[in-house]
Amino acid sequence: MPKRPTRLIIDTDGGIDDALALILALRSPEVEVVGVSTVSGNVRVEQAAINALRVIELFDHRDIWVAQGLGNPLIRDPIRATSFHGTDGLGDSNLPQPRMRTRKESAIDLIVDQLNKEKDHGLTIVCIGPLTNIAAVLTNSPNISGRIGELLIMGGAFGLSRHGYGNVTPVAEFNIYSDPEAAKIVFESGIRVRAVGLDVTSAPENWLTSAEYSRVKATKNGVSVFATRILANTMQKRHMFELHDPIAVGAVIQPSLYHFIERSVKIETKGEYTTGMTVTERREEADNIWTENPIKICTNLKSQRFKRLFLGHLLKN
Ligand code: BDR
Ligand code: CA
Repeated sequence: MPKRPTRLIIDTDGGIDDALALILALRSPEVEVVGVSTVSGNVRVEQAAINALRVIELFDHRDIWVAQGLGNPLIRDPIRATSFHGTDGLGDSNLPQPRMRTRKESAIDLIVDQLNKEKDHGLTIVCIGPLTNIAAVLTNSPNISGRIGELLIMGGAFGLSRHGYGNVTPVAEFNIYSDPEAAKIVFESGIRVRAVGLDVTSAPENWLTSAEYSRVKATKNGVSVFATRILANTMQKRHMFELHDPIAVGAVIQPSLYHFIERSVKIETKGEYTTGMTVTERREEADNIWTENPIKICTNLKSQRFKRLFLGHLLKN
């Protein structure tokens, strides 16, 4: 019997790679996106919702709900990544406003409702932005964690490869650095977490290259034209693009391409220089070795097969 698609909620902060990750999920028969929640991060939560609607409209998926979550990190001021993602979060691509609308309810309530409705506890939540919304869900509804099948996050820099260092500070990755208190709640929750961090997503063999971008640009379907447009400015400046969020989503679509190891990780919230660091137990042996709340951390990806999967979905008609 064919496997039933994994049902997903995707929580996004509205950047360029977020949009590409949504496209990958929406084109993949292995998963079924039931809802998209938005969070403050790369751009404001309202803009993240506009950008999610723009992607969903490409596919005319009116059955997928889109809702705004929290507009600020739990206790800190937001940081934005508009210098990289553009003021609109989509590379200053000047796309038309979407016609579809967000749901009126808060994403936090909709996530809880959706989890309570799921019959077989099969719902996976994929967080490709700061962990603010999911921390709020866990805090407001302490009994809900048992209903989350899996939490897959793009975030962290775990020091488990030579690329596993920070992209906002020497040690902190953007999604964790943006709301470390939220990340701490999630990492201490005991939920089954798989994390795909910079250790893998920053590795050059996983970047979108100029040659690959040219293939997308040369293909003229609705999805490839959209992707070409949102990538244009950054490809012109940097000649490469790090596929952080699509790589994370790919771990739900084709888990066999990914290698994970289990480690205990603590989130630094009080550091003078290290706030947002994902402090990872890398010791093999020690009397006081950390073993609590282990999470699965991605250490390797079959790059060529991932690229084939990702580009295949961008290029197909
Ligand atoms: C993460 O930060 C954001 O800018 C990207 O969208 C990705 O989720 C990478 O550190
Ligand atoms: Ca993101």
